[in-house]
Amino acid sequence: MRILIMGPPGAGKGTQAARIASFCEIPHISTGDIFRTEIKESSELGKKIKSYLDTGKLVPDEVTVMVIKKRLQQPDCSRGFLLDGFPRTIPQAEALDGILIGLSKNRLDLVINISVDAQVLLERLTGRRVCRNCGDTYHILYQPPQKDEICDRCGGDLYQRSDDTAETVSNRLDVYQRQTAPLLEYYQKRDIVQEVNGELSIDQVFKEIEKVIRSID
Ligand code: AP5
Ligand code: MG
Repeated sequence: MRILIMGPPGAGKGTQAARIASFCEIPHISTGDIFRTEIKESSELGKKIKSYLDTGKLVPDEVTVMVIKKRLQQPDCSRGFLLDGFPRTIPQAEALDGILIGLSKNRLDLVINISVDAQVLLERLTGRRVCRNCGDTYHILYQPPQKDEICDRCGGDLYQRSDDTAETVSNRLDVYQRQTAPLLEYYQKRDIVQEVNGELSIDQVFKEIEKVIRSID
């Protein structure tokens, strides 16, 4: 199955994507995670894109498309994949269509759109903590670790993403409205968008998503 999970920053894409990937046994491909790894490793690409992530601007389409094209060629994508955070612009969506044709893969089967009110998003992002070692995501109120600032899964340190400050979050929400929200129409025309209420609890949101996936399987 080829799935795209969409929604504004903090909607819960990464949180739900981890569960969906395990439920469907497909790889979770997050451009944000790929970029953060490159930055952590101080690679050439990482140095080039750091300022975009720190300020909440989109990395240029040509860079992002190149990264995704390489990732989709990996053998683990043969049974499908779950995209999180890509595409984020209409040119990226058009490029994805071209990449899938080039790799003789079918189009996306499903777009899950998670909607959440802007005020809730701000609270979620400023309270988010991420494991420096394994990337697991927590929230100081809604999904706290058992021990303060320590990952339950691997014991790694938890940190706050550099783009989770109130100022950068507000830029990211603005960028989302201007550049990414119009993409929904692109996929609505194909009749593959399913809406999910992201304001329910993490478990309840996943139940809704599971229903949607079963209905098209
Ligand atoms: P990216 O990493 O994709 O960030 P984002 O889209 O802004 O989304 P987030 O990861 O912040 O939120 P999420 O929806 O995954 O929420 P999460 O599950 O963590 O992109 C970062 C940057 O990379 C971009 O700004 C850009 O610079 C660049 N980039 C990436 N892709 C690009 C592209 N295609 N083109 C160009 N540039 C690109 O949840 C958030 C918090 O809420 C967590 O603490 C979680 O525990 C909590 N939570 C989740 N669900 C619930 C719930 N139901 N109830 C209560 N709390 C919840
Ligand atoms: Mg995410």
